[in-house]
Amino acid sequence: MENTYKKAEKCNEELWDEIAPIHVKSYREVDILKEGGIVLDEIELREIGDVNGKTLLHLQCHIGTDTLSWARQGALVTGVDFSAQSIACARQLQQELQLEATFLLANVYKLRTILHEQFDIVYTSRGVLCWLRDLDEWAQIIAHFLKSEGIFYIMESHPICNIFDDTKPGELTITHPYFHTSEPTLWDGSDPDYADDTYVPQHPSYEWDWSLSDILNALLKAGLHLESFNEYERLFFKRFPSMVNYSERWFHFPQYARKLPLLFTLKARKPGMR
Ligand SMILES: C[S@@+](CC[C@H](N)C(=O)[O-])C[C@H]1O[C@@H](n2cnc3c(N)ncnc32)[C@H](O)[C@@H]1O
Repeated sequence: MENTYKKAEKCNEELWDEIAPIHVKSYREVDILKEGGIVLDEIELREIGDVNGKTLLHLQCHIGTDTLSWARQGALVTGVDFSAQSIACARQLQQELQLEATFLLANVYKLRTILHEQFDIVYTSRGVLCWLRDLDEWAQIIAHFLKSEGIFYIMESHPICNIFDDTKPGELTITHPYFHTSEPTLWDGSDPDYADDTYVPQHPSYEWDWSLSDILNALLKAGLHLESFNEYERLFFKRFPSMVNYSERWFHFPQYARKLPLLFTLKARKPGMR
């Protein structure tokens, strides 16, 4: 299985290297930052609270748009990603915006070998879990990098979304499994990129499904205490073609209103020493 994981991660890294420069051009978030704004949602701003002066480690930061937004909110940020192109784009954006931030090129699973600090906040969001091969190890790494009393926060698409397809417009059918299998799923279709529908990525991806219980149990086993868990009816990308805009950068599914969660958030704390 180790060889399958290595091959999957290598392939995913190449995919993210390919699409990072595409995203610099197509992410509306880049313009918002250049106009002096931030791209964080009111959900995460409210649930995390004041970050001013706090150290924040952002796992899987991609081109750094969220990381730099937290910097603009006063956090002392470190963004990590295993895609060299993503980190190069993040550093370039940081220089252009003249914001304080450190961007590190690293696989999350190897981060402990190059980073030797602890943080007030470990943050990750929007399309991160499907790329991870082992959630128990991921949660141990999060706990390792948190100071005591520090918080972990994630905002992510709800795992229930992964079981559906809407091949008949507007009608969801259950086509994919919900539960985790160690073998990743290969996606090598000709679907356009999620941020630029004129671009079809050349590289396939390997992705893992994680259930809500997998996510919660991994964090609890790593010793974190759950503080909040919330589900929402809107999502940060157009997961199904029949979703419609909720706001400029968010989407919802009016015909499934009150029936289907699309997003979850979770906040957990590392307990203090006794
Ligand atoms: C969907 S993006 C994160 C989204 C980001 N919040 C945004 O809005 O742009 C997923 C990121 O995870 C990174 N990634 C995937 N697996 C990783 C790993 N094992 N270690 C570090 N980064 C990883 C990819 O390079 C990619 O930049």
